[in-house]
Amino acid sequence: MSIEKSSHSGEHRELGGSAGLPERFENPGLEPHRHRLADSDPKRAKRSERQIALIFTISILASIAGVVGYAVFPVDIDRASVLNVRWSTLVVGLGLGIGMLGIGVAAVQWARALMDDGEKIEDRHPMSAGPAAHQQSLEILRQGADEANIARRPVLKGAIAGALALAPLPFLVPLIGNLGADWDISKFKRTAWAPREDGSGDPERFFEGTYRYLARDPQDTKIRAADVTNGNIVHVIPHGLPEEEHYLEEKAKAVVLLVRVDPSILKEAPERADWSYDGIVAYSKICTHVGCPVALYEQQTHHVLCPCHQSTFDITDAAKVVFGPAKRALPQLPIKVDPEGYLYAAADFDEPVGPSYWQRER
Ligand code: FES
Repeated sequence: MSIEKSSHSGEHRELGGSAGLPERFENPGLEPHRHRLADSDPKRAKRSERQIALIFTISILASIAGVVGYAVFPVDIDRASVLNVRWSTLVVGLGLGIGMLGIGVAAVQWARALMDDGEKIEDRHPMSAGPAAHQQSLEILRQGADEANIARRPVLKGAIAGALALAPLPFLVPLIGNLGADWDISKFKRTAWAPREDGSGDPERFFEGTYRYLARDPQDTKIRAADVTNGNIVHVIPHGLPEEEHYLEEKAKAVVLLVRVDPSILKEAPERADWSYDGIVAYSKICTHVGCPVALYEQQTHHVLCPCHQSTFDITDAAKVVFGPAKRALPQLPIKVDPEGYLYAAADFDEPVGPSYWQRER
């Protein structure tokens, strides 16, 4: 190994000397520095400054629009509609995204067009953290601020401060707004599957006006037991759920997984013996860990898996937890078949659906 001094920059390079490696190479050095128009033309610099201020302004407006959108399209549980949720998600997402993107684009443009772009050569030296080094660091920071021309560009200074201050708002305002939300868990004790006590339900949607039919999600078509084949999983909602107030809440609580297995492998407690129909079982689709939709079915093991943290439930054994952080089995929906072969819910879930970390009364 030999040491060679570069002819261009004066740097020293180690050269390979063994077989197969190049004997020597030239250090290409630095490309000649190209001055930008904004460096010498104050008008161009001013134009760049206005462009950057405009991008920061767009960021500010987007952040404000995100907050306003959150207020205009309420998504709280009592007033939410599907349209509100869509608009709120769109506006808050765009506000947050454009707010953050605007800061990034403006910062890059500022660096490209206005900051000092001269090449610097910095010699390496032993690391030390004494007072002198500390002083030097402060000096470098001060110099950086000078080179960024912050002090001489009050418009940009105000614009960046405004954009940085407002960009987190579309994230923080919904967060703070939800702190006072109604977390009444009694709502989880009753779902749309609960039979109508007065038997006044629409016969198309209710068996004998009382029991809600099972339907495919999202087609909302009733399900014949004969159509549920062995090994398949069917995603189910209550048939004919009216799209009115609380629709989303009711639908979210009532989603179900329907699976058919060989009846001989079902381990059913005596009190649950009539909750299944010919090997067809129905369980809440809401994971009892923190509420993700349990949706993956392993035909060989008859396990359903939650994709969020891999909680695994055994369909053949009352959907008990066999793996993962969930601490409670999936609630079961007792099902029966009407004279025409359609499946309906004979009762509500056996216990509240959803995460089990909430306090519950059985
Ligand atoms: S939400 Fe299902 S495992 Fe965490």
